Amino acid sequence: MDHATEVKIAQNPRKVYNKIAKSIISLTQDSSQGMFDIALSGGNSPKGLFEKLSSKYKDAIPWERIRFWWGDERCVPPSDEQSNYKMTVDFLLSKISIPEANIQRIRGEEAPEMEAKRYAKALKDTLQLRDGLPVFDLIILGLGDDGHTASIFPNQMELLDTPAICAVARHPNSGQQRITICGKVLNNANRVYFLVTGENKATRVSEIMNDTEAARLLPAYHIAPKNGKLVWYLDEAAASLI
Ligand code: 6PG
Repeated sequence: MDHATEVKIAQNPRKVYNKIAKSIISLTQDSSQGMFDIALSGGNSPKGLFEKLSSKYKDAIPWERIRFWWGDERCVPPSDEQSNYKMTVDFLLSKISIPEANIQRIRGEEAPEMEAKRYAKALKDTLQLRDGLPVFDLIILGLGDDGHTASIFPNQMELLDTPAICAVARHPNSGQQRITICGKVLNNANRVYFLVTGENKATRVSEIMNDTEAARLLPAYHIAPKNGKLVWYLDEAAASLI
C-alpha cells in the first residue's frame, strides 16, 4: 500500500512548483472562505515555489486573504541567513503586497520555550479548532535527508504524538535549537503537501512510498492528515527509486 494518499510526479522542480502554485490559486479563489491559513516549510526546497508565487502567479493570488505561518523555525534572529522567515522574505514576502498582520512568524530571537508557548497560543486563538487543535488549510512540508519534516527529527519521534501544539526541538547534528509545530497539529490539517525534489531525497521517498520497515523510523512517514488530504509533490529525481 502506498503510504501517501496522492503522489504527483513532475519532470523537474519548475514543473513541481507550477503544480503547487496552481493548487494554491484554486484553493484561495473562493472569497467566501475567509482567511486561508498556510504553514510554510523552510530550507531550500520552497525557494523555487516562492519565486513562482511572487512572479508568474503574483496577480492570481488574493494575498490579503492568505495568512502565513511557519511549520518550524531555527532559533536565530529574523535577519540571520539561517532564518526560514528571512528566506521567505527574500524569495516571496519582499515581492508581494500583503498585510503585515497576515505574516505570523515564529520569533527565533526569543527564548525558545517561551516562544513555543506564545506561538501555540497564537495558533489556538486564531485558527479553527478540530479536536481542540488548530486546523491549517494547507501545510507545506519538506523532507530532510534523514527523513525529518518540519523540525521533528528521527531521534525526537515523541514530537509526533505529544499533545503540545509547538515544541522546542534540537537538530541532531548541529545541536541548533528549533521551534516546531508538532505531529498532531500537522495531522490535523485540511491538506498537507510535501514538496520534495532532487536525487538526494530519492532513498527516503522510496522507503516511505513503499511502506518499508525503515520508513516507520522516519518522522515524515507518520504525517498523514486524519481528516485531510496528503499529496507528495515530487520531481522525477526524487521519485527515481519508487
Ligand atoms: C527547515 C525545514 C526542514 C526542511 C527539510 C528539507 O527548517 O530546515 O523546515 O524541515 O524542510 O530539512 O530541507 P531542504 O528543502 O533544504 O532539502
